[in-house]
Amino acid sequence: MKYSRIIGTGAYYPEKVMTNADFEKMVETTDEWITTRTGIKTRHITAKDETTSDMAYKAALNAIDMAGIKASEIDGIIFATLSGDYTLPNTATMLQHKLGISGSFAFDLNVACSGFVYSLSVADAMIKVGQCKTILIACAERLSAMTDFTDRNTCVLFGDAAGCAIVRASDTPGVRSTNISADGTFGDLLTMHGVGTTYLANRDTMRLEDNFIKMNGREVFKQAVRMMEEAAVKAVADSGLQESDITFLVPHQANMRIIEATAKRFNLSMDKVLINLDRCGNTSSATIPTVLDDGIRSGKVKTGDNLVIVAFGGGATWGGSVVTL
Ligand code: UT7
Repeated sequence: MKYSRIIGTGAYYPEKVMTNADFEKMVETTDEWITTRTGIKTRHITAKDETTSDMAYKAALNAIDMAGIKASEIDGIIFATLSGDYTLPNTATMLQHKLGISGSFAFDLNVACSGFVYSLSVADAMIKVGQCKTILIACAERLSAMTDFTDRNTCVLFGDAAGCAIVRASDTPGVRSTNISADGTFGDLLTMHGVGTTYLANRDTMRLEDNFIKMNGREVFKQAVRMMEEAAVKAVADSGLQESDITFLVPHQANMRIIEATAKRFNLSMDKVLINLDRCGNTSSATIPTVLDDGIRSGKVKTGDNLVIVAFGGGATWGGSVVTL
């Protein structure tokens, strides 16, 4: 088979919701600042005993159900996360075990918020060379576990969620193009150093603040606008479609102003852009598969629609894809 297609998606959102009003009581901020600067109103937060793999398991069951397959048909799991359950074992094998399957490959992939686009690129390539037929992409983040709830610059931005997609070999085009890029020059702009061996190797240098996400928001914003546009334009150029063929933009959900700038580049009105940023905040790798799942389940996005998927994340990493559903 010549192509790969997304044949099912699924999402999971933790029950607990934090509003902007909740943050007004915790740090020096206002609903007005958060809404106008980011577009975020609420975000979901995991329960104390709810792990990243727990969330991914629930999202995976929904994706498997939509795809109409059995878990045993999955040849491999690509798990995109920067907030996995442990350093070892990886979270992909934990999800595999929860799904009651074994033998399939299972690996984690950490490219921060670009996780879904990178995973789709790898899955598409593996399927096209005939290495396997059916891949589960799982993107789940428990960012609340690494958020400093006293830092107003970051704590209002992030949320927890899981989104999954089943990608399968197909005779007709689904994934039409993917591009993935990185530039370590920007590594200092968005960090969470805690679990790496740099500090673990010398326990005297471990500091609590290294367990929190830190971000130079203004600089990240500038790079994100530029790189998202670059990746989206390339994805369309490589897809064999015209920009006018694109029916929906499916962007990483970090900031409404970044999303609007990307939509403007493609002359797409905001009703042609999938958004869950207002409800979920920035859930890193999970933003794209969750917002896509919302779009499909609400009936807004239909089979045959041409999507431009685009993401930017810490590293820096970025990438784009054109997918026909
Ligand atoms: O997902 C991975 C990629 N991440 C992103 O793409 C995030 C990109 N960056 C952004 O979305 C925006 O830069 C932020 C939303 C993080 C910040 O918005 P901004 O318009 O770039 O604000 P800023 O960082 O330039 O800060 C402006 C002011 C500062 O005060 P002073 O120094 O001007 O007095 C901040 O201290 O806003 C202040 N500020 C806040 N005020 C109220 C920062 N956070 C808050 C807050 N409430 N929560």
